[in-house]
Amino acid sequence: MGIALRDVKLAGRHVELSWSDGRAGDQFSLLWLKDHCPSPECLHPDTRQRQVDTFSIPEDIAARTVAVEENGRVLKIEWADDAHVSRFDAAFLASVLPASRAVPQRILWDAATTESQVPTVAHESVMASDAALKQWLELTETYGFCIVTGTPATPEATQALLERVAYIRHTIFGGFWDFTANMEHKDTAYTTLAIGPHTDGTYSFDAPGYQMLHCLAFNGTGGENVFVDGFKVAEIMRREHPEEYRLLTMIEITGQYVDNDRNVHLQASRPLFRLNKAGELVQVSYNNYDRAPFYLPADETAALYCALKLFASYVNDPKMQYRRRLAPGDAMMFDNWRALHARDAYQGYRRLCGAYLNKEDVESRLRRLRAA
Ligand SMILES: [Fe+2]
Repeated sequence: MGIALRDVKLAGRHVELSWSDGRAGDQFSLLWLKDHCPSPECLHPDTRQRQVDTFSIPEDIAARTVAVEENGRVLKIEWADDAHVSRFDAAFLASVLPASRAVPQRILWDAATTESQVPTVAHESVMASDAALKQWLELTETYGFCIVTGTPATPEATQALLERVAYIRHTIFGGFWDFTANMEHKDTAYTTLAIGPHTDGTYSFDAPGYQMLHCLAFNGTGGENVFVDGFKVAEIMRREHPEEYRLLTMIEITGQYVDNDRNVHLQASRPLFRLNKAGELVQVSYNNYDRAPFYLPADETAALYCALKLFASYVNDPKMQYRRRLAPGDAMMFDNWRALHARDAYQGYRRLCGAYLNKEDVESRLRRLRAA
């Protein structure tokens, strides 16, 4: 039957809740409760948007009675200043407590880990069942990547797979892309050069949350894909090089994309290791190709280069890399806020397609699948 309330005590301007599982002492202020009243007058039943006029609620709002009802499933409050009655679901109150905040369970990895275990799901199942779709997104959350095997090697199938999750993100490069580099033309515009480990969109305030890469055809040599768990590198640096780690959490690095033909100059800044207020790592951003000129005092400049060099030495270390030539059929989905990607130089013909998805759209999909 899920979480239930055992008791409620009124204590001045707040109530204290205790729960059937023994947990106790959670405080909810009466002002907060009135602000979160789920009645149709206070919370729009269709839009789930707040209708109550928050700032007309008196700060010293009082309750006439508080009670637990329906075997602990409901907290009922009768308000003192009007006839309004609020009835809160115990499950709703439990869901906002910090302890139940969904913290992604991450498994950090390196070359050795990915030798024995690579997260994969089958294309057929993902397209047919929500359970498999949920499994795919949960594996992507846990590992920062997951390969959908057996994906038909067409742009249409790849796009449909992405759209099973969310709408495709548009950028200055367009939406879904399908790219052929053919060095038989010896055209340097179609580069086949090596690209070192990086994340995309360091010049975007909201760097793409997820990226899919699907190689539709390859006929040549080289061109292996490389992925690195940026969170694993952060964890090692935090432990073994705390000063360099701290610097990379503090100094904002600016990425830029300059395209004169399209009259575009994008810029955004954030630390390489972006932490939230609780000090938890939320995003890794690194693209040395796109780093904009910066100015810092000389000693800080030296320290920053030193820290960047250390980070680069980790992400370029084969011991940290998952290396694989993604064959047609292997649609690679990865978390661009966590995993760095790279590519070896290659010779020959390669056709690659893919797209970006926004962070919040993928999280939304997973949240709904979990709630279902
Ligand atoms: Fe990239």
